[in-house]
Parts: sequence; C-alpha cells; structure tokens
Amino acid sequence: MGKWSRIMYHPNLPLGEDGNKVTASAEHIAISKNAAKEGMVLLKNEKSILPLARGQKVALFGKATIDYVKGGGGSGDVTVPYVTNLAEGFKKLGARVSLFEDSIDFYEDYVKGLYKEGKMPGLIAEPTLPEDILTKAKAFTDTAIISISRYSGEGWDRKSDKVIDRTFKGVDQPLIDMTNGIFERGDFYLSKAEEELVNSVSKAFEKTVIVLNIGGMFDVSWIKDSKDIDAALIAWQGGMEGGLATAELLCGLGNPSGKLADTFARNLSDYPGTEHFHDSDDYVEYEEDIYVGYRYFETIKDASDKVIYPFGYGLSYTDFSVSRVKIREDDGIITVKANVTNNGQYAGKEVVQIYVSSPQGKLGKPEKTLVGFKKTALLEPGQTQRVVVEFPVDVFASYDDLGKIQKSAYVLEKGRYKFFVGTDVRNARSAEQEYVLDDNKIVCQLTQKMAPVALKKRLLADGTYEMLEQGDASKYNENELTPLSEDELEGMSPAIRPEKSVNRYKPADKRQLIDVFTGKISIDKFIEGLSDEDLAWLVGGQPNTGVANTFGYGNNNEFGIPNVMTADGPAGLRIQPHVGVKTTAFPCATLLACTWDPEVATKVGIAGGEEVKENNIGVWLTPAMNIHRSPLCGRNFEYYSEDPLLTGKMAAGMVRGIQSNHIAATIKHFALNNKETNRKDSDSRASERAIREIYLKGFEIVVKEAHPWSIMTSYNIINGRRASENEDMINGILRGEWGFDGMVTTDWWTHGENYKECKAGNDMKMGCGYPDRIIAALEKGAITRDELNKAAKNILTLILRID
Ligand code: BGC
Repeated sequence: MGKWSRIMYHPNLPLGEDGNKVTASAEHIAISKNAAKEGMVLLKNEKSILPLARGQKVALFGKATIDYVKGGGGSGDVTVPYVTNLAEGFKKLGARVSLFEDSIDFYEDYVKGLYKEGKMPGLIAEPTLPEDILTKAKAFTDTAIISISRYSGEGWDRKSDKVIDRTFKGVDQPLIDMTNGIFERGDFYLSKAEEELVNSVSKAFEKTVIVLNIGGMFDVSWIKDSKDIDAALIAWQGGMEGGLATAELLCGLGNPSGKLADTFARNLSDYPGTEHFHDSDDYVEYEEDIYVGYRYFETIKDASDKVIYPFGYGLSYTDFSVSRVKIREDDGIITVKANVTNNGQYAGKEVVQIYVSSPQGKLGKPEKTLVGFKKTALLEPGQTQRVVVEFPVDVFASYDDLGKIQKSAYVLEKGRYKFFVGTDVRNARSAEQEYVLDDNKIVCQLTQKMAPVALKKRLLADGTYEMLEQGDASKYNENELTPLSEDELEGMSPAIRPEKSVNRYKPADKRQLIDVFTGKISIDKFIEGLSDEDLAWLVGGQPNTGVANTFGYGNNNEFGIPNVMTADGPAGLRIQPHVGVKTTAFPCATLLACTWDPEVATKVGIAGGEEVKENNIGVWLTPAMNIHRSPLCGRNFEYYSEDPLLTGKMAAGMVRGIQSNHIAATIKHFALNNKETNRKDSDSRASERAIREIYLKGFEIVVKEAHPWSIMTSYNIINGRRASENEDMINGILRGEWGFDGMVTTDWWTHGENYKECKAGNDMKMGCGYPDRIIAALEKGAITRDELNKAAKNILTLILRID
C-alpha cells in the first residue's frame, strides 16, 4: 500500500490475518486480561488462604461484585463490546469454584436496576445486605469475598475531608456526602455502608477476602489492622476483562506479581501534597518539593509511621529470596547483579528494586530513591534467576537551583552513596558495596528555567523549610494582542477553511507533501511554498473524518497534506459510543505501573496502536504520565506512579509499542497537571528542583529512551506561565536540553493564545486553531514567519512519519 493509504482512504481495512479485524479481537482482549493479571497487587494473605482451593464454595458480597469499574471516566473512557464483572469472571471459570447464587442475584437486581435509571458504574451507593442472605450464605460456605469499587474521572478531583466550599467563603465545608446530617467519608475511605458490610461479613465468615476495584490510592488500614480480614487483592481497574483476571488470580490460575507504584498511607492528610490541595482554585503550592510519595514517607521524621503498605510492596503465593547481591561501577555505569530464587510451591515472578541513599550534602536528599528495577521471568519452584540491572551514576544527581554547589547544574555531592536491594522500599537491604565520591561533581550545567515567581518556601529533608529565590515574573507579561475571552477560547470545533490557499509557487512548480517523502524537495523548500494563511491554518486542529472525534492535523488538499486523525487513550482506543465501533479496554495505567514490567506496556501499546491504525487514525493521545502527587487528583488512574523513574520506564515501553505501528504516540500532559479542579487556570507553583527531578523527569526518560513523535502540553499554569505558552519548558528544556525532535500539541481548548503557544514552541493548537489571530499577530510582529515555519516543519515531519 502507498504512503498514507490508511489515513487518506476509507473504508477501514482489517489489519488482521485472514482479513479479520484486530479491533476488540479475542487476541487483544487476551492481552488486556493478561496485563491485568500482571499488575494486581496481593496485599495480605494470612494463613495462605489464597489461592482458593479447587471447587471451593464462596459467597460474593458488595455491589462491586456486579458494579465493576473497568477504568476511569472522561477522555480516558473506552467504548467496549462488554465488561466482565467479578461474578461473571468466576462463572466463566466453571467448576473451579462453587458460587453462592443469592447474593449475586441480589446485587445484580440492585445494580442493573440503577444502570437502567442511568446511574454510572462505580457511582452507586452500597445497599444494605438483607439479613437472610447473610444467614443463608453462612450456611453455604465459610469463605466470603467482598468487593469495593471506586470511580473517578477527568475534570473533577476525588473527595477530600478538608475543602473550602466556595459558596460559604471562609467556612470549611467537607466536600463529602452528608446523609441525614451524618458525616459520610467514602472515596479514599470506606463509606459508612461499606464499613458496615465489611464488619458484618468479615465477622460472620471464617475466611474473608477483600477485592479492591480502584484506580488510585485508598485507605487500606482497615485491611491491615483487622483480624477478621484474611486476604486482600488490589485488582485495580482492570479493563474489560478485569473481573475474569481477578477471579483467575484468586483461584490460582496465575500468581499475583504486582507491586505498589504508590505509597499507601493511613489518612488522606498523611500525603504531603494533600493538605493544601484545595486551598485555592487558582493555584497549588508544591511546598513538599521533591518529597513526593515514598521520598516523603521514608525521609521526613515520623512520616514513616503513617505508611500502611510501602512503595514497591506486593505479595505472591510463593516465597522468593534475593541473594548474592554484587554491585560494581565501571566508567560511571553501575551494574547490580542479584539472585532471585523461588522457594515456595507456586511458579511466580518477583521484582528486584534498587534504591540509592545519597549523602545529604548541602542540598539534602530523599532517604531512598529508586534507581533501577527488574521483574524476573516466571520462576518455577526451586528455580533461580540472576538478575542484572544497569544505570549510570549520573542518575543520582540533584538539581541545584539555589547555587549551593553550583547554580542551575545537576550535581553529585561528595560522600558515600549506599545501595539498597530488595522487593520494596522498606525491605530493601543495604548492599556491601558503596559508591564513594571524594569531590563534588558537576554532571551537567544548565540555565535557570521555569523558576518560581510566587512559591515562597519548600520542604527540606530535615523537615524544615527554606525560602526560595523568585524568578522574573515580568518577562511573562507580553500582551501584544488584546486577549480573547474564555468563551472565545472554549469548545469551538475546527472550521472548514473558507477559501482556497494562495499558492506561492508558480503552477508548474507546485509541490505535494509526498514530494518531500520521496526526496524531490526539502521540507524547508516545501514550507516556503505555503502562504502565511496556509501556515495559520496548518498550526490548528482540522475537522473530524471517519470514526474520529478529537480532530485532525494537516488537511491541505492543495498541497497533498493529509488530514491525520487523532484519538484518545490511554486505556484503549476511544471511539464515541454512537459511532458503533467497540474497542478493547486495557487496564488503567496505575495497574500497568504495578506490573513493574515495561514489556507489558509495550504489548498493550502494540495492540492498542493496531486498533488505532485499523480505524485509520494516525495519532494516539497516549500515554498520560503525570506524577501521582496526591491521591486527590481525579485522573490518577490514567497516570502511572508517584515515582518518575517507574513512570518514565513504563511510558517508554508503551511508546515503543504504539510507534512500532508507524503511528504517533503523544505523551501527556506536559507538565505539573496534578489537579483537575479549574485545570485550565490553576497555577502549579513549584521549585525548579522539584520540576526537574520529579515532574519533568518521567517525560525526560521517555523522550530520551523511546523517541515519542509528539507530546501534549497541559492546561495548567506553571509558576505564572501557561504550560502551553511556556518557552522555558518547550523550546528550552524539551527541545533545547533533551533534543526532542517531534511535534508539540496543546491540550484541547486551552486558555492559551494560539500565537503565543506557537512562539513558545507549541506547534499545534487543538481542538482548533485561531488562524485570524495568527495572521493578526504576524502583521503586528508578535510572531514571525520563521516561528510559524518551525511549527509547520514539526507538524509536517510528524505527518511524514505516519504510515
Ligand atoms: C484531555 C486530554 C485529551 C483531550 C482530547 C482533554 O480534555 O485533557 O487528555 O487527550 O481532551 O480528548
């Protein structure tokens, strides 16, 4: 087939062998289910009550037995052919277990009735369990499985117990359901009804297993503390076959090998980024600085007691030991080798995690930082694998934003760097070998970028705060054109271009984009031939074609520039329900992160990318990779982890998979988009050090390792400057420092100005551009033709990469 034959022509030809469609095919659904099994985390398994014995009698409780949440809401939702809930999952396993039917029938009637009334999965209250069902269940079996589900989505944050209600200014109003004047917790915590269910069931049965169908951090202290709860599995939001994947693991058809990608603490307020999360709709102060997640809990005095299950934690049905740890350094590369042995009865996988403890020096460091990890192959009982992990010493460097060693440089401070090797951040043991530096080393000299203009102080490793230097706010006040109103910027659809372009070539010279591909003309020469109006249209979104609903890039017939469609992810190709095309829903990103296996993400990326391609779409708006700063962010399910290395490695795996299909991945949302409330105008105020070491680091890893063809800037403001207009971040760090050579798009309908975004290196304005404003800015000298040429080149290069 010729170049762009898929994206330019219809119908959507099947990609599969024998002319079969791959979209929502049995193969892809199997990939989804297998990925789900790799990331589920076994929290507790007292007296090894799991896996369930063959033919064991069980009773299922909790409306989540039926009300299964496959993934979160908003643009990350997927239109699927079906979803397997936990009850159906068990039923698919036939005689493997014997199910108590009455509780299933009870929840089925309740949940399906509410679905008919239009209630959304995951947003249904827990009903009161009738006493007679409990009594009958007790007579049937001694084993209960209670499911709890949670749902969150784009555009809103999770419930907090400390929120200022704007309607009663100054009065603290919990943003939490008030039922009959009773304070109802819910969301991060169990609701009252759920608590009652858990108490009555776990007391009534000899064995109780909890299944958590959740998308993010959750209070699990009641699981750890309760003597009546024997086992618990975090099944996450496992995609369309999540219920089956869960049932298989509980029955021992597979062995849990997921490890937490976040710290699970007792209270919401224990997470440092949470206390001030809702202080203002207009800004968030990232005062905890680099002490996010385990970096906080393992470092700050007394914080470690707040942890219920630590970062990296996860049990298996078998036992592993890690031994013969050897660490050496050659030419700045550290190699860690360790033996992992399966000492138990079941085949399983383990994850070796390597943390470094750097000298506190002048800058202060987290007590432990993840620097490498490796998941083993499936090890049979008795089998040993020698695991090898390599990483450069330079990854230990800290960014010195205040010039304590050397300003605006990544530095390695002199002293002893200790290594900890184990299977979670807490049980990692100190290794014999250390890396010792006699003198401070400047790893990389950079320049000040994205400096704070309103964040006054930040947390240090000893629990005190230090004052921050302020950057220059004035340089952010360019205002060449009278700004557009929010209404003018919001929600427009790309327009069809009214007039034909004025072709700058003489007719005989007229070129098509394909001529650039075949080498007849250089891309610069081709762009020279486009008029200012052509460019003004090119740097904005184009109308939908085919099954797309998030618009296209390109679309200039006269020059043979195809209209390349975009589509959402990350949990699967998202096509609007009314179109009638159903696609595979993969597990949520947090589950994928808990696999600690980038290869799993690659498989999902390949399969998801194939569905994108089969539907004639060229750009997948995936993966999303913001840091889990606080459990409150409503979109955490779409993101991987609190740790930038794990985030970066997983997203890199996904990008490699997607782009093997010759379609573009789009890493998003760049950056510091850690809150959904007022997301288009909230200012994320952070230090340069936190920005670079935590919030940009994952993106840096993906750009350098996996070469994504595009990146999406976020809606929010960062230190007073919109992410999409952030010259320091886009032209400065992304392109200048990291060498990104792809295309940058805005998020959809930002409140940024098209020409300012373009000037900052943000090539594309989505969902639609503002060509008249671009032309007006060009005439006024607020943007130059040269700057437009650069954006055009990046957009056309992306289109040329797609096939
Ligand atoms: C979301 C993006 C998404 C885009 C297109 C935005 O609201 O933040 O993640 O890709 O819409 O649907």
